[in-house]
Amino acid sequence: MLILGIESSCDETGVALYDTDGRGALLAHALHSQVAMHGEYGGVVPELASRDHIRRVVPLLREALDDSGRSLDEVGAIAYTQGPGLAGALLVGAAFSEALAVSLGVPTLPVHHLEGHLLSPLLSANPPRFPFVALLVSGGHTQLMRVTAVGEYELLGETLDDAAGEAFDKTAKLLGLGYPGGPALAELAELGRPGLVKLPRPMLNSGDLDFSFSGLKTAVVTRVRELDTEGVGLDGRQRADIARGFQDAIVEVLVKKSLRAVRESRLKQLVVAGGVGANRELRRQLDEQAGKMKIGVFYPELEFCTDNGAMIALAGALRLQAGATSKPAGAFAVRPRWPLAELTV
Ligand code: KG4
Ligand code: ZN
Repeated sequence: MLILGIESSCDETGVALYDTDGRGALLAHALHSQVAMHGEYGGVVPELASRDHIRRVVPLLREALDDSGRSLDEVGAIAYTQGPGLAGALLVGAAFSEALAVSLGVPTLPVHHLEGHLLSPLLSANPPRFPFVALLVSGGHTQLMRVTAVGEYELLGETLDDAAGEAFDKTAKLLGLGYPGGPALAELAELGRPGLVKLPRPMLNSGDLDFSFSGLKTAVVTRVRELDTEGVGLDGRQRADIARGFQDAIVEVLVKKSLRAVRESRLKQLVVAGGVGANRELRRQLDEQAGKMKIGVFYPELEFCTDNGAMIALAGALRLQAGATSKPAGAFAVRPRWPLAELTV
């Protein structure tokens, strides 16, 4: 069956086509990022995000269809992100998908955005096998989950305040880097000297699998004040050292807690998903330390780390295969807040 996937939960419009026949294959995917548009405002403006999803979704669908060589009337079901995310942005994707499904006479598959992230490494050439532990690190979430099968997710730990991506973005803002700050901060950190700026490792030894990142941002503010004694701002080198100190702190906590989660679950595989999973230092340290413990670490392809339609089409396809039923197209509701552990097949 040909599954059309639509993602519109935040600031990326994603459209993809996934064929469930045989071993399953992603046929095409098209993406538009609104980063440049929101950059002017220093963060995502929800109303602008919704309007842009409306403008982009049809051209992206045409692009994906052209690339796949398939036609719209071959689509057997439409998977779309039902939540969590921005209500207005979700409504665009949901309304578009449901209306298109009515016109094609096919059912729909409302998908949990984080389930999409979590399953996205299954799109790669060397996929993990169930069960595994997943570290979900995005702009809005930092969670460790035990993934037993599609639709069987147990929350092992999560952030008590800011998400890791949010901490990257807020700290980047403090250092005068643009939006989104995560990738820019990571780049700056590579120029910084290790060990020069020591920042706390929040909850590293808390004995559980929870995180807390809001204090790190406050620690960065304090360090900036200490270094900027003349009040003239920091020079490039000082900013790079702070970025390095911040990244080292956050990476150490993410690595230690993730590996502890795998060990305590008595599993041998760790999946890392979500935007922060693109961070090079996180990958380097995870690979190194997991290797020593004979734990395999699996990442989505870089292009599927951040939001995209492919992971939504895949999640829809895998849910169907796991026995979930699609729903008749037409009536719908979005779920801006939606705990992943509530999900079943
Ligand atoms: O998963 P995602 O695209 O969107 C959400 O669902 O939230 O994640 C976006 C987050 C942002 O906070 C962004 O700054 C962060 O991922 N991010 C990074 C990197 N690339 C993206 N953080 C650290 N290092 C990176 N290389
Ligand atoms: Zn996401």
